[in-house]
Amino acid sequence: MKKLVSLAAGVLLAGLPFAGSAFAQDYPTKPITVVVPFAAGGPTDTVARLVAEVMSQDLGQQVVVQNVGGAGGTLGAGQVATASNDGYTLLLHHIGMSTAPTLYRSLPYDPTADFEPVGLITAVPMTLVAKKDFEPNTLEELVAYVKANGENITYAHAGIGSASQLCGMLFMDALDTQMTTVPYQGSGPAMTDIIGGQIDFICDQTTNTTSQIQAGEVKAYAVTSPERLGNLPDLPTTAESGLELEIGVWHGLYAPAGTDAAIVERLEAALKTALANETVVSRFAELGTVPVSEEEATPEALAETLSSQIELWRGVIEEAGVYAD
Ligand code: MLT
Repeated sequence: MKKLVSLAAGVLLAGLPFAGSAFAQDYPTKPITVVVPFAAGGPTDTVARLVAEVMSQDLGQQVVVQNVGGAGGTLGAGQVATASNDGYTLLLHHIGMSTAPTLYRSLPYDPTADFEPVGLITAVPMTLVAKKDFEPNTLEELVAYVKANGENITYAHAGIGSASQLCGMLFMDALDTQMTTVPYQGSGPAMTDIIGGQIDFICDQTTNTTSQIQAGEVKAYAVTSPERLGNLPDLPTTAESGLELEIGVWHGLYAPAGTDAAIVERLEAALKTALANETVVSRFAELGTVPVSEEEATPEALAETLSSQIELWRGVIEEAGVYAD
């Protein structure tokens, strides 16, 4: 199998903090909106709602999740890029923030110039899962079955640039075989159709597949983490089955460019409180992931990850020759 992508950090991208102001001293004085650029009920939404609950307590104002799906997350991200930089509209997005600049050649925003990074949140493994009566029973059988049946197999994803679409692209590239891809507004609704048997197969984050796997609602083949997961100990890694497909879907919190540095610092502190909260930590563990460290829940760490990931994925996407426009 072709050596596939393993994700790594890159170079530091120094933010340019905005001058502080008296306005920031009282922040927040009203509810804050966090845009999740995918449909409710999916993995990004799950992470956002867990974090927003604790940030609300820390900030003393409701942090309200707003789902804005479409175009692999770029519609929601674009909405925040042009929102007021008063600290009351934020974006919680994932690896798709780094792939969009290459996938969308007419992207209406710049992920680095149009946002202030607040901090990294978590990196979530992915699982290859299918409808429960899908014929293959092991990853080896799945690979052979996909190679033999190609476009007769339907593959769900959350739009070009979503993590599920990227994983599927890498999987199909590794097998040198195309399946019939079916886009959704998020992998929450996609999972409904996997469980219902309307769609054959998806590569999705453990934050959306763990409970379905444990309940026997889907057939699971492998996890894309280097090691097996404590919450899914019987699920082999892709590497154990000879498929070099290792992906961790990193997530970050962003504010629009020009947001007051004092507001970004206040949000960073609230994010760190959320990531240290025992309910968040234990729920993340149940779903196969862990919060990032204090050092990673910072603007510098998110900026560094974003810039290095943009470079990493540019090469992978250009090699695959897959674009959204
Ligand atoms: C993805 O595939 O990028 C995510 O699963 C989308 C979502 O959170 O629904």
